[in-house]
Amino acid sequence: MTADAPLTLHCPAKVNLALSIGAPDDTGYHPLASWMIALTFGDSLTLRRTDSNESRFNIGFADDAPRPGAVDWPLASDLAYRAHQQLEQATRRALPVDLTLAKRIPIGAGLGGGSSDAAGVLVGLNELFELNLTDAVLYEHAAALGSDVPFLVAALRGTTSATATGRGERLRPAPLHQPIHLALVLPELACATGAVYKAFDQTMRPGATADEATVRAIAARSFVTDEALFNDLAEPACAVAPELRDAQRQVAAATDRRAHVTGSGAAMFVLADDAHNAHALAHHITARTGLVSVPAQSLSA
Ligand code: C5P
Repeated sequence: MTADAPLTLHCPAKVNLALSIGAPDDTGYHPLASWMIALTFGDSLTLRRTDSNESRFNIGFADDAPRPGAVDWPLASDLAYRAHQQLEQATRRALPVDLTLAKRIPIGAGLGGGSSDAAGVLVGLNELFELNLTDAVLYEHAAALGSDVPFLVAALRGTTSATATGRGERLRPAPLHQPIHLALVLPELACATGAVYKAFDQTMRPGATADEATVRAIAARSFVTDEALFNDLAEPACAVAPELRDAQRQVAAATDRRAHVTGSGAAMFVLADDAHNAHALAHHITARTGLVSVPAQSLSA
């Protein structure tokens, strides 16, 4: 590769097929156990080394984003930017890049959009500047940026289905026996993760721990069924965004299947039988409910 050849990465969305949350620890953080898969649906990140001293950040929504959005937050709080800053500080050197991020994953969706972009920046800079960071160091940086970032780093490196425990930093691959197809539903609602955890605190059993054994058992099955999947944050997400409950009912009624909330919401997914069925379901959901829906499948390893 020549010095200025761009590196383009697919920063995948994730869904939580199972998510168990425990009572918060002394720091207010919640232990979790989750089975996550990375999807074909995601953002596009391009990084190119530049001779200039300054990095340039061009962060926006892709023309083909299913739900157009606006980048209305300061650059300093963007997770992709923060990942770049963090690596510059840790390596004590400038890592001058032209970064272009074309987002498709909506904000506040529970699909790990910002986290996946940050994971892409960590993996991409490590490669582009030949930083030779060890896995341990890379995952430490990932965990410092957010609890979904370690899994998304793993996904970018080929582990596209895994269980995550602790604060999301303890990963175990959970290879899929066959691809998982689904229709993603993207309502015009955003759930702030912190607020959803606060709502969770109001209903949880004191001293509860994340149920790692159940999550691992579900991930070990050879096929996925609606009945097995669960999300401890689904109810709290509906408490934060009451319209989500309505949207969930509409999607379930239109498809005669369960509409699962992913992460802290507000996106949902409906399991499909195959790729053709995922397309048909997404089309049907939009026609019947007016909600934006796109087909997706698990990213192959
Ligand atoms: O890690 P992430 O960026 O998703 O976290 C956003 C917020 O959600 C945290 O600041 C914290 O308030 C809450 N959170 C939590 N326990 C977790 C993950 C997130 O309390 N395991």
